[in-house]
Amino acid sequence: MRLIFIGDVVGSLGREMVHEYLPKIKKQFKPQISILNGENAAAGRGITEKIYKNFLQDGVDIVTMGNHTWDNKDIFEFIDGANKLIRPANFPEETTPGKGIAYIKINQHELAVINLHGRTFMSDVDDPFKKADLLIAEAEKRTSHIFVDFHAETTSEKQAMGWYLDGRVSAVVGTHTHVQTNDARILPQGTAYLTDVGMTGPYDAILGMKREQVLRKFLTQLPTRFEVPKEGRQLLSACFIELDDVTGRAKKIEPFMINEDRPFGLDY
Ligand SMILES: [Fe+2]
Repeated sequence: MRLIFIGDVVGSLGREMVHEYLPKIKKQFKPQISILNGENAAAGRGITEKIYKNFLQDGVDIVTMGNHTWDNKDIFEFIDGANKLIRPANFPEETTPGKGIAYIKINQHELAVINLHGRTFMSDVDDPFKKADLLIAEAEKRTSHIFVDFHAETTSEKQAMGWYLDGRVSAVVGTHTHVQTNDARILPQGTAYLTDVGMTGPYDAILGMKREQVLRKFLTQLPTRFEVPKEGRQLLSACFIELDDVTGRAKKIEPFMINEDRPFGLDY
């Protein structure tokens, strides 16, 4: 099984990159399933139904979310009917709309996609490790192919999740910190791991926000509103993962970025 995972799509520049490059990425890597983190897709904060549907039209199979899940109130209107969108599974179970796991079928194989949210330097949510145990027990009854998007702030919490799930899932890929890390590997028991896949959106910005505003905050410590640039150079960050069709264990994980410094198709 071959997968593509595109990291945190930020604003219109990020959405444009998905629209332009996902067909080219599909031609090159021939993934059967494409997953994308869309929690920053609506001007950096949440997602709308229109954006969600455009992602599906662009060829995305599953959209994952994160700490900005509820920032655009549009989501409350469509999340219950959006069976290809998942939000962090460890939000409080009884009171949270939507779901944190989705299944997608490709020929005779099925992939479970799980979205989890970290707790270190983030809002207080349920234990992602215990939630992972519960969801893996559920998913294992159907498939040995399980992908986890762990949306978390610290490298240590993400590494801990990778080791915790090694041999129990096919891949643990981190999102949220918006900078692609250089540590892709296959852990000893066969789980593909990457601390952060990086972001997709404005390239000449600071984590996707206008750099003048972020700099002002650092230089003055005054309250500053952060906005997403609507024009300028663009970046796409993603990784390709290949799994053994029978066991679901990872055979390959290959992160890549597309931008003016790394034009598409040169490195891979
Ligand atoms: Fe985030």
